[in-house]
Amino acid sequence: MTTPEETKLTALVTGGSSGIGLATARALAGAGYPTVICGRNEDSLRQAAKQLADEGLAVTTVTADVTDTSSVRHLVQAATEAHGPIGVLVNNAGRNGGGVTAQLTDELWHQVINTNLNSVFYVTREVLARGGMTEGGRIINVASTAGKQGVLLAAPYSASKHGVVGFTKALGKELAPQRITVNAVCPGYVETPMAERVRHAYAEAWGTTEDDVLTAFEAKIPLGRYSTPEEVASMILYLAMPVAASVTAQALNVCGGLGNF
Ligand code: NAI
Repeated sequence: MTTPEETKLTALVTGGSSGIGLATARALAGAGYPTVICGRNEDSLRQAAKQLADEGLAVTTVTADVTDTSSVRHLVQAATEAHGPIGVLVNNAGRNGGGVTAQLTDELWHQVINTNLNSVFYVTREVLARGGMTEGGRIINVASTAGKQGVLLAAPYSASKHGVVGFTKALGKELAPQRITVNAVCPGYVETPMAERVRHAYAEAWGTTEDDVLTAFEAKIPLGRYSTPEEVASMILYLAMPVAASVTAQALNVCGGLGNF
């Protein structure tokens, strides 16, 4: 059996310095994919790479902002120069954001849509146009269960993630003749730095404590707990592997039963 190293399937993970992205980089690099991670902050990227290096895993880092098309062009160019054509793209970078809709600023709305949805289009287009992705390629978009149902006080976030799911399903059909699969992974609640920011925002909105918010959220999850970044990364790794060749245009939940749709 050929290994990812032999076939040189470069994996590019956006937002790879933290949370789900870091766990995904660990899983892909551990499985032998030459892996590139990007993020906006050079120090955070360096720390993530060091953490992985201490575990015996090498990743290449590229500082890039996925909401900026010239930065995205540089990212894909740097990734291909480092390791060759991109075989696996994981569009993971994202942010939370919401509030009472009547009080939302244009700035917050646009930042959330740009970071969570427009970026997925920008990076995917660049990888398809100039990243060398060919037959056997994998595009995996980290959406959310909020991409399938509305989340209270999170209209921009829910709108952006529904957009990612729609983009995924359409592109999956478009690229099927080229044998490139396109899927979304939809986490529910996952314990990451973003999850902490989300609990903080709800605690402020509801005038309660972050612990109370945690208890309320856990009560909604049939398995009674947050998923781990590693559990989400395992689904992403599966979708990247040859064995997942017949899975395309899907949106797969990793959510402890929070969503069953
Ligand atoms: P996180 O905050 O730990 O990591 C997000 C990563 O994206 C960071 O590395 C950050 O630097 C990067 N990033 C943000 N904006 C960027 C930009 N403009 N350019 C480049 N990189 C950028 O968050 P987490 O939880 O790991 O989230 C990863 C993905 O999973 C996001 O798309 C998020 O919406 C999604 N998700 C997370 C859930 C959770 O409960 N944590 C639930 C459902 C989905």
